[in-house]
Amino acid sequence: MSTPHPLSVWARNVSPSPTLAIDAKAKALMAAGEDVCSFAAGEPDFDTPGHIKDAAIAALKAGKTKYAPTPGIEPLRAAIAARYAAEYGYTVASSQVVVSPGGKYSCYIGLLAVCNPGDEVLIPTPYWVSYPEMVKLTGATPRFLETSDKTGFKIQPAQLEAAITPKTKVLCFNSPSNPTGAVYSRAEIEAIVAVAVKHNLYILSDEMYEHLMYDGATATCVATLSPEAAERTITVAGFSKTYSMTGWRLGTLVAPAPIAKAVAELQSQMSSNATTFAQYGALAALQEKEKTTAALKEMLMAFDRRRKHLHAELNKIPGITCLLAQGAFYLFPNISSFGLKDTDFCAKLLEQERVAAVPGSSFGAEGYLRLSYATSDEIITKGVTRLARFCAGLKK
Ligand SMILES: Cc1ncc(COP(=O)(O)O)c(C=O)c1O
Repeated sequence: MSTPHPLSVWARNVSPSPTLAIDAKAKALMAAGEDVCSFAAGEPDFDTPGHIKDAAIAALKAGKTKYAPTPGIEPLRAAIAARYAAEYGYTVASSQVVVSPGGKYSCYIGLLAVCNPGDEVLIPTPYWVSYPEMVKLTGATPRFLETSDKTGFKIQPAQLEAAITPKTKVLCFNSPSNPTGAVYSRAEIEAIVAVAVKHNLYILSDEMYEHLMYDGATATCVATLSPEAAERTITVAGFSKTYSMTGWRLGTLVAPAPIAKAVAELQSQMSSNATTFAQYGALAALQEKEKTTAALKEMLMAFDRRRKHLHAELNKIPGITCLLAQGAFYLFPNISSFGLKDTDFCAKLLEQERVAAVPGSSFGAEGYLRLSYATSDEIITKGVTRLARFCAGLKK
């Protein structure tokens, strides 16, 4: 009898998502009746706005239950193109828009369209957990550009330039950032794009959190900076975070025509269209603007209140320092003064105080925690009190 072959290199080399794993552990403890304060989830705690749900229900009832065109239903692609024109003055044809089953999938398939085995992809740290794994799944190699709280978690143009080799093909760029919430200014992005243009790099610009901004900060759509930026930028965004639609699995990708065509062709073999009736819900999110804006405003007010509250409380804890991020719904406090590995810190915190947080090392940055404030004010107050007690215990 022969033993079955080992699993593929793809399966053996991939690391499962640590954020989803910690969130699942916290949820399992809660299901077992434990009083857990979870800062682990990367999703808004609000329900999807009613008018979006109603539109999807109506579509379902109207029989929108069949395959749709792979890159998305035409009215949604047109509405996405129209919103880029309205929000950023970015003129794209609807044929340059590909709707996919989630922004995560859009990032992967965008990378797959441009990366060859042996290419290098530059990823600033701390990074969203999926970029290195996605890059590996294209056969390319991830290379990292380190940042810290000292630089506001932002890469410098000279640092980017120094890391480029003849094999470098893509820069993964994510502003506002998961996990730090850092937002690059337009001028900072211009300087980075100039280096990317000079060295002929593609830019995968993950703009998933573009609408979750505070303190009057505004998002920059990288592709709009210049014609040279537009011809090399793959813009990923979606509905999950802005409209509290994480479970709907809808992402968007906008790219120069040849890339968008390649992405749609890859998608036609790998997933086909994103769920048809869900796309009608997304269409309502873009078309029924007044209702959507009102719902988003309410969510943003809650996020902003929680952001300030969590930030103030964290900085009161001896040993912790935390920047006030201007985007997304995460804070990324520095816990290195405790002299404990961040994975041990998080494991003990969950065990002793039933507080779930994700270690910075999951994002390529040892010595930090990622705390999501997309959770209730009560959980934040209770959780941060427990965290303070835990830290006081470590200091003794
Ligand atoms: C930076 C970033 N990009 C992309 C995604 C993917 O979002 P989704 O697949 O839910 O659309 C996420 C979700 O956590 C994210 O944080």
